Amino acid sequence: MSHTHHDANLPSPGFPTVRPRRLRYNPLVRELVRETELSPRDLILPLFVRPGTGVRQEISSMPGNYQLSVDTLVEEVGAARDLGIKAFMFFGIPEYKDATGSSALKHDGIVQQALRATRKAYGTDVLLIPDECFCEYTDHGHCGILHDHGGKVDVDNDATLTILAEQCVSHAKAGADVIAPSGMMDGMVGAIRRGLDSAGFTHIPILSYAAKYASGFYGPFREAAESPPQFGDRNTYQMDPANSDEAMKEVALDLAEGADMIMVKPALSYLDIIRRVKERFKVPVAAYNVSGEFAMVKAAAAKGWIDERRVTLEILLSIRRAGADMILTYHARDVAKWMR
Ligand code: PBG
Repeated sequence: MSHTHHDANLPSPGFPTVRPRRLRYNPLVRELVRETELSPRDLILPLFVRPGTGVRQEISSMPGNYQLSVDTLVEEVGAARDLGIKAFMFFGIPEYKDATGSSALKHDGIVQQALRATRKAYGTDVLLIPDECFCEYTDHGHCGILHDHGGKVDVDNDATLTILAEQCVSHAKAGADVIAPSGMMDGMVGAIRRGLDSAGFTHIPILSYAAKYASGFYGPFREAAESPPQFGDRNTYQMDPANSDEAMKEVALDLAEGADMIMVKPALSYLDIIRRVKERFKVPVAAYNVSGEFAMVKAAAAKGWIDERRVTLEILLSIRRAGADMILTYHARDVAKWMR
C-alpha cells in the first residue's frame, strides 16, 4: 500500500529516526564506513612449475593460468610483482613420479629450482611459499607413502611425516620464506617444525592447511598439477565437508604443534569455518579460493551470464569479511589490474 492511499483506519507508519540509508547516499561516506578492504597485498598467487624451457601451457579449465618452466615462471612472478602481488605459492610437476614421491626431495627438484631462480631474480622483493605435499610426485597420486592398513591400501601417516619434513627442509635450503604443508597428515606441523629447527630454520614460519576438506572444487587443479589419485579418494586424510567442530580440533592441534598461520580450504563453501577459526583462535587465517571456485566464475563470465569483475571482487571481499587475513587466488592478477 502506498503512502498516498494510506488507510486512515491504520496507525500512520510515521518516519523513522534511525535511517541506515543516511550512510549510503554519499559515496564518500560509504567509503568512510566501509568495514572490509580488499588489496593486492592480501593476495597470494598460486603458480605451477614444470621441467623444460620456454613452456607456457595454458590450463584449459583455469583460463589465464599456465604450467610454466622455471624461466617463464620467473617472468610471470616479475609481471605479477609489477602489478603489486608480492606473495606466491609454488606447485611442482616433476620430471618423474614414483611410489614414494622421491623427486620431491631432490636438491635440484623442480620447486627447488624455481625457488632459487626466483630468489636470484627478485631478492627479498617477493615472498615464496612452496606447497608441501606428495600428490604431484607419487605415481599413485596420493599425498604420501602407501601401506596396507587392515586390508586396505592407505597413506601411511607416520612414514609420510619423515619425508614431508625432508621436503620442507630441502625447500627452506632453496630459499622458501614460508612453508605450507597441505597433506592433512596427523602431526605434520610438529614433524616439520622439528625438521626445520634442527636444520637451522627456526625463523621460517609454517602456514598449515589445517582445515582442508575432501572437496569436489579441486577438480581443475588436479588437471593443472597432474595429481589426481589413481585409485580411491582422499577421504581418509582430508576432512568431511559436513564437519565444523572437527575443523576447530584440527586447528587447535596444528597451533599446539607450532603452526604460525592457519589455512581453511576451500573458501566459498566454508566461510562459516573461516569465521569460527578467526573468532576462536585469533591467529592469522588464510583462505584458499580454489580452482573449482575460480573455474565457475570464468565459465559463467565467458558465457556472459555474470559480470566477472563485479562477482570476483564480491567473492574475495566476502572471504575477507568472513575473517580471512589473506587469500590464495587465481584471480590475483586480474584483481591487481582492476585495482590499479
Ligand atoms: C594438494 C593440494 C590440492 C590443492 C592444493 N594442494 C589438491 C588436492 O588436495 O587434491 C587444490 C588447490 C585448488 O584446487 O586450487 N597438494
